[in-house]
Amino acid sequence: MKAMGAGEAKAYVDELYRKVEQRWHERVLDGELMRQLRAGALPIETFAFLFRNGYAQYAIEINTMWGCVYQKYLPFFKQHVDLMAAIGDKIADEFLHPEPPGHALILFQTCERLGVSREEVLNRPVLPELRGLIDLARSILYEGTAAEWFARAASEKMVGVWTGLCYEALTTKYGFTPDQAVYFSKHEEADLQEHDEGVMAHGEFNATVLRRLLATGGGWERPGYGMEYCALSNADLWALMFDQALKLAQSK
Ligand SMILES: [Fe+2]
Repeated sequence: MKAMGAGEAKAYVDELYRKVEQRWHERVLDGELMRQLRAGALPIETFAFLFRNGYAQYAIEINTMWGCVYQKYLPFFKQHVDLMAAIGDKIADEFLHPEPPGHALILFQTCERLGVSREEVLNRPVLPELRGLIDLARSILYEGTAAEWFARAASEKMVGVWTGLCYEALTTKYGFTPDQAVYFSKHEEADLQEHDEGVMAHGEFNATVLRRLLATGGGWERPGYGMEYCALSNADLWALMFDQALKLAQSK
């Protein structure tokens, strides 16, 4: 794969992020479930339904995939030691903060407030209608290319925006305390801002790796997939998960 110049790689990644951001706004953040949540009009049971039947399981599993990403693309990280430190920090964030087992712990805390038990988070099967998001990630990890994975991960910056909106809605309209909504505030910080004395925001980390891949000839794409498809399909599957949760919760 021909390496792009640094300027070309930056322009490509900026444009990809612009498209992902637009898709998130159109389909996720301005989608029905989030519109209702932000207005305080979504029954909290519907939000709990999303966590009970798909999101909580997704949140745990996607973090474990980052360990696999490090192993699978170790030769790339060995050539870019600065990024080796950054992926270590990112994995540590997910598993060690605020204390082991990391984000799973604060997920349990927020789920408890939603009435979703730890047992459900750990053992409840994901509804088929909600499992496209995690299955796309798994298929890109095991069958796709590094560039496709890091293009898929363009959504992580938008997860930071989404968690910020959830925190705002839950603490101002649903009576959650900051502690009960800690899962959302922690993610907003980790995905969007430099934190804990120099740890790169996860969104910026993913964009940095993608730029580096493109600038060093690592922008491989499969026919029928490719970076843009993986990035936008991932955003679409967030939207579908929310749409399906809303529809199924209402039909109960
Ligand atoms: Fe993150």
